[in-house]
Amino acid sequence: MYYSDDIIEEVRIKNDIVDVISSYVRLQKKGSSYFGLCPFHSEKSPSFSVSRQKQMYYCFGCGAGGNVFTFLMEYENYSFQEAVKVLADRAGVTLPETEYSGEAKKRADLKASLLEINKLAAKYYYAQLRQPQGAAGLKYLKDRQLGDDMLRAFGLGYSNKYSDDLYRYLKGKGYKDDLLAKAGLISYDERQGVYDKFWNRVMFPIMDVNSRVIGFGGRVMGDAKPKYLNSPETAVFDKSRNLYGLNRARRSKKTYFLLCEGYMDVISLHQAGFDNAVASLGTAFTEGHAGLIRRYVKEVFLTYDSDDAGTRAALRAFPILRDAGITARIIRMEPYKDPDEFIKNLGAEAFEERISKARNGFLYSLEVLERDYDLGTPEGKTGFLKEAAKRLAEFTEEIERNNYIEAVAKEYRVGYEELRKLVVKTAVQEGMAAPAKRAKSGRNRDKGKEDGIKTSQKILLTWLIEDEGLFHQISEYIGPEDFSEGLYRTVADILYGQYEKGSVNPAKIMNHFTDEEEHREVAGLFHTKIRELTTAQEKEKALKETVIRVKNHSIEQAGKDWDAADLEGMQRLIKAKRDLQNLKKLHISVN
Ligand code: GTP
Ligand code: MN
Repeated sequence: MYYSDDIIEEVRIKNDIVDVISSYVRLQKKGSSYFGLCPFHSEKSPSFSVSRQKQMYYCFGCGAGGNVFTFLMEYENYSFQEAVKVLADRAGVTLPETEYSGEAKKRADLKASLLEINKLAAKYYYAQLRQPQGAAGLKYLKDRQLGDDMLRAFGLGYSNKYSDDLYRYLKGKGYKDDLLAKAGLISYDERQGVYDKFWNRVMFPIMDVNSRVIGFGGRVMGDAKPKYLNSPETAVFDKSRNLYGLNRARRSKKTYFLLCEGYMDVISLHQAGFDNAVASLGTAFTEGHAGLIRRYVKEVFLTYDSDDAGTRAALRAFPILRDAGITARIIRMEPYKDPDEFIKNLGAEAFEERISKARNGFLYSLEVLERDYDLGTPEGKTGFLKEAAKRLAEFTEEIERNNYIEAVAKEYRVGYEELRKLVVKTAVQEGMAAPAKRAKSGRNRDKGKEDGIKTSQKILLTWLIEDEGLFHQISEYIGPEDFSEGLYRTVADILYGQYEKGSVNPAKIMNHFTDEEEHREVAGLFHTKIRELTTAQEKEKALKETVIRVKNHSIEQAGKDWDAADLEGMQRLIKAKRDLQNLKKLHISVN
């Protein structure tokens, strides 16, 4: 933290969360909270709530949440420091510059400078495209049928033929070599000295979700190699956490995204009216991408290239999307290679029709499998069905498995019963003995247990926050040190401190975290609805089990780390075990 706790708290208190969020989202009062359509994902009925009393917001649809700082961090993609600055301005609080520690200031300054340089470079390329020297670039883009509105919307540009054109321009603006290198815009070697990374290419500025330029892709105008050159990752450009076109797609009214591979595909799709198209940035699709998408939509249509590489990439993206809670389907583009070519040849309506015919991941993987068999011959078809049956046997849920058996039976014209029997037979032959369960590796099992403890600690914190009466009942047995998860431990420390001073202030707890992900997670603690347990008795039982689980884990950990020479440690351990015994007898009452 680079500002003092006091000043951050002052800024927070002077910016009422309902007032601030109202300038972005239309809110309506309902009971003690305000509700509106969530700006972080696409929805039709409001599940985004803002509480004046708690000074927090939370979306019951997508889990976004936090205090007034978090909101600006998420909405405007500001860093914590930027959010503090903007809100301080808004409330007329003067921030003491000196509280910025040297190292922190350097880091914040670096990011700001890189963004500034990127913006200048983008403007420069943009202007060059419209100058006589950019004529070839403009012609290239026009030949690819891009309209002026798209050139403007995506800020397309051109890097001149000289190998140090941008370098000289930016030097003229007073930037040092070292900073330009950190921006990824120049390279250096002994023979040539300093030269531009991009020259004689049409330029695609890559923007973050708030339309700030974070990097570039540059395309040759002919067949030379490499076809595209992309900025390296920098302090402001993280390829696995940004998607090309997201700054526009996030404003789309559609409830799904089109996920494609190339810059040109995105622009073509937007031009054809598909304003929900995004692309990963010349890298494989990652969990980071999926998490980013999940903030806006729950459904994705993949429009990857129809070649082998595209197919493989799509098959790899499916499980990543699924794990993030996103349903994914694939759009087939045959006989064309990619959405850009498809639309040029068949138009937007035909593409719309392909969207409506999109396949889910499993059926798509069977389509890919088809290529290995000749379904026109009996042997071919049998072989194919056997392999399909093997894959069907892998569904562990009976209903799901039967639904897919039905779909496959229909698609490949075989009897449902026939196919079902084949699935069972295959399962037995393969030693899968339905319902098939993939054996979990030891590491996964451990991970499961870790997650379990994490969840218990999380639930206990939520409970402590929601029910003030609880603290006095359990604080004798459970202390902040029993929370082993880094983030939860910090929250517990602060929470226990606040209890001791007499009042819990959730929005203030959030001030201690400066990272957006941490804000989300901590906000979740204040809003997680504890499993609807009907009777007080059931609640008490569940709570007691949670308390015991957390304590037990804490003792196990302490036991593992205990050093035989540490007598005090041993006494603490003995006391903890006695506490655990007492806990088992304890009666907890809940509200
Ligand atoms: P066009 O030929 O302009 O239509 O390209 P495309 O958009 O169809 O691109 P393609 O499917 O060939 O590649 C998809 C994406 O991969 C591009 O948008 C780039 O981000 C990246 N890419 C393509 N070729 C290269 C290359 O030669 N080098 C690097 N680093 N990235 C590339
Ligand atoms: Mn293409």
